[in-house]
Amino acid sequence: MNVSGVSASVSAAPRRAHVIVCGNAKGGTGKSTFAMHIAVALLRAGNRVATIDLDTAQQSLTRYVENRRRWVRATGIAVALPDHRDVPHHAHDAVSEGATFAALANALAGVDAAFDFVVIDTAAGDTFLGRLAHRLADTLVTPLNDSLIDLEALGDLPPAGRGSPSGSGYAQAVAQARDERRRADGRLLDWIVACNRVPVTAAGEAKIAPRLRDMASRLGFRFADGISQRALFDELFATGLTALDEFDGRSANSRANLAHLAARQEMRRLMDHMRLLHGKPPMPGSEPQAGATDAAITPAL
Ligand SMILES: Nc1ncnc2c1ncn2[C@@H]1O[C@H](COP(=O)(O)OP(=O)(O)O)[C@@H](O)[C@H]1O
Ligand SMILES: [Mg+2]
Repeated sequence: MNVSGVSASVSAAPRRAHVIVCGNAKGGTGKSTFAMHIAVALLRAGNRVATIDLDTAQQSLTRYVENRRRWVRATGIAVALPDHRDVPHHAHDAVSEGATFAALANALAGVDAAFDFVVIDTAAGDTFLGRLAHRLADTLVTPLNDSLIDLEALGDLPPAGRGSPSGSGYAQAVAQARDERRRADGRLLDWIVACNRVPVTAAGEAKIAPRLRDMASRLGFRFADGISQRALFDELFATGLTALDEFDGRSANSRANLAHLAARQEMRRLMDHMRLLHGKPPMPGSEPQAGATDAAITPAL
């Protein structure tokens, strides 16, 4: 089955839900952590949110949601839960791309009309499901570790005055997905890159931030402030909670220590940068992309 044909037919269908995809060619950068935090932020703002886990091998988002359900059962404290769907592992193994697509279509069935947002978590690497998801995205969020290796996974930045940065295979795949989406229904993907696991000693500024700012307009992404490295994130995964959960003065509130509050602040800043809250999400391409740290969207690969 032809990927672009499939995605064009899916993208062209009338849709109301805003699709957010967490993606990166590299693993362990925070895709699943971001996906859960974005979903909870949207839920807490009163939106109807579906989550889809396309990382059929790791299933981190699926386990995160399960841990959250378990926490609700154990404590009796109601925290908002997304409507979660995963794609069975056997579909990933299927030789036929048609079967894989059917599994994705099944996961997507009904979400367009029933939800305001769909948050899709993807696996690292170049997978059929991942490529489809990128073609469906209205907003793509790419977390990067604060390392030169992660930077290289996005693109190459030559020394000052020596030509312009070139995109990695992943950046080129995003450019292609953006192009196909624009041709299918005229919408322009809003791509946001954010550093994750920034050392707290760096005072919020990632080591690779200056290079990312230089790359942003060439590769067509908006560069968001980073999320600091905090052991808290691993602990949160185990409970199914996020830095954004508050408990209205009930039992778990005592856990909201300084690290928790700082992480919450950073995640809120990321959400602000994504401009998904406060009314209707901006449809990329329907308004000028403005903002101090935003680069112009010029998909020029
Ligand atoms: N800001 C952070 N600080 C510390 N640990 C983090 C942070 N973000 C994610 N992690 C942890 O890093 C690991 C990988 O994150 P994950 O979201 O699963 O990445 P990916 O989905 O890209 O593979 C997990 O154990 C997660 O808890
Ligand atoms: Mg993951």
